[in-house]
Amino acid sequence: MNWSDPSDNLLVHGDNLPVLLSMQSKYSQLFSLAYLDPPYNTGSRKADAYDDAMPSLKWREFLNERLAAIWPLMTQDGVVMIQIDDRELGTVLEVLAHHKRRLINHVVVKMSELSGVKMTHARARLPKLKEHLLIVGVGPSSKLRNVRVPKDPEKLRSYCRYYSQVVINPSAPLEQWRLEPVRRVAARDWGWDAQASDAQVELVALKIKHAKQLVYRTNNALIAASPGQGIRPIISPEGVDYVAWDDKQMLFLSDHLDEPLGDLWTDVSTINLNKEGGVRFRHSKKPEKLMRRCIKLATEPGDWVLDPFAGSGTTAAVATQLGRRFVTIEQGEHARTVVRKRLDTLDTAYRFLVP
Ligand SMILES: C[S@@+](CC[C@H](N)C(=O)[O-])C[C@H]1O[C@@H](n2cnc3c(N)ncnc32)[C@H](O)[C@@H]1O
Repeated sequence: MNWSDPSDNLLVHGDNLPVLLSMQSKYSQLFSLAYLDPPYNTGSRKADAYDDAMPSLKWREFLNERLAAIWPLMTQDGVVMIQIDDRELGTVLEVLAHHKRRLINHVVVKMSELSGVKMTHARARLPKLKEHLLIVGVGPSSKLRNVRVPKDPEKLRSYCRYYSQVVINPSAPLEQWRLEPVRRVAARDWGWDAQASDAQVELVALKIKHAKQLVYRTNNALIAASPGQGIRPIISPEGVDYVAWDDKQMLFLSDHLDEPLGDLWTDVSTINLNKEGGVRFRHSKKPEKLMRRCIKLATEPGDWVLDPFAGSGTTAAVATQLGRRFVTIEQGEHARTVVRKRLDTLDTAYRFLVP
């Protein structure tokens, strides 16, 4: 294939190995993220577009060759993510060790619902709910961005209980802040009906709505060491700002509505996945929410994302929505019938190449 300098988004219809190898002339050190969602080698002979029942050694070589072709395309601080289920997890880890790349994280992602049809076939073993996302650094400086996720609603509800005081004049200088109990403020200023049957639920909703004013106090060794009275600013020796409230630290509910993302992702729903992106695809389509997270963890707007196993085109579609550029490769006929259809509904320009 003759490649021109990277400028357009690309959908390539063909076997990804020769395509990846031929990209090296023009696309070296371009991609900040490569997301690989290869055939899981399930043993099924039903897959029409690819071999999903390879002998294990053949599958290992399949991955090995493609990874070797991908490294030169990646930026020095880029990230490669490989999604896989239990069957070939061990093989992926062995291949990565062979390539001497650093595993940044091994994420476990919930990818099925217990109520799904597949679960009715689970006999004499526990139903399979999870998959693995192996996040690998291209070089020593590869790292993930800070992504925060909303707190689980149940957890947030119980957390809200502690926040029982309201700063009623938050635009005044800190030392002049006045505090009042939330129930009084909610009934007087926010239209809360304490006698209503859903009063407690409504109070939580109001606390979340006014989260910037809802406060609580907790122990802080620095403040306890220099006790004082009232509300005042404290700057630690490391330059961190605190608000002191008598001999404790003032916390704001607004700083705790979300939390850092961990390496166990149970909040990605697969319900109604078959309708996402306006296309149907039965070979392990991935949720857009999952791809949004992966892309945000590893890239900035304008960066290039590579997906050599396009499937239904989820990565390319989400990359576009997030203002990233993409190259995606798919050998099945669904490159035309599914991926093109999906991308054509988005406001994006791309070139369709057939090597
Ligand atoms: C698990 S699916 C990817 C699903 C995709 N992430 C999505 O959200 O729709 C794997 C895809 O890789 C494609 N594929 C398998 N081997 C390939 C190869 N050598 N070159 C290009 N595509 C390949 C298959 O046809 C299939 O569409």
